[in-house]
Amino acid sequence: MARFRKHGLAGAVAAALLLAGCGGPQPLYDRVGGFATMSHIGDSLVVDIGRDPVLMRRFKGFSVADIQRQRTANVVFACELAGGPCRYRGLSMERIHRGMDIDDDEFDRMLALFAAAAKRASPDPGAADELTARFAGLRSAVVTHSK
Ligand code: HEM
Repeated sequence: MARFRKHGLAGAVAAALLLAGCGGPQPLYDRVGGFATMSHIGDSLVVDIGRDPVLMRRFKGFSVADIQRQRTANVVFACELAGGPCRYRGLSMERIHRGMDIDDDEFDRMLALFAAAAKRASPDPGAADELTARFAGLRSAVVTHSK
């Protein structure tokens, strides 16, 4: 009987913990504004990279279809990076950028565009910064040029 009561108490505690869990912090993807935010970031990057002559050197000769593919890949990638439901199925960041000899300056420019786009698109500036920090964490996978 005492044993029964003990389990009853344990069950109640477990249920309380579970309920408390339901009110836990929202995932970054939701806080940052979900797919609408990803989509805005994708659009901004297309426009802003086009205005940056240093970054643009890398995308010379891209057709409209190439740009659209790039935009979609960036949106899906950012969505997954935020912990959203999308699954990026392209090559790894290392494989795609290997051989491009990308340097820290290029990465910083891309990061600044991403940070500004995320801030503009998201209703939550703190969440935008968190997403940008995840993007920044990819530096070593993208930058292969050592000075
Ligand atoms: C965290 C930083 C970065 C992320 C997350 C990222 C993400 C991506 C993704 C997802 C693709 C694949 C597009 C596709 O499948 O069509 C891609 C391709 C590409 N990225 Fe990045 N990128 C980053 C930084 C950079 C930087 C700094 C540059 C150079 C300025 C760059 C230049 C390129 C180019 C030229 C391609 C096209 C490759 C091709 O189609 O042959 N990326 N990137």
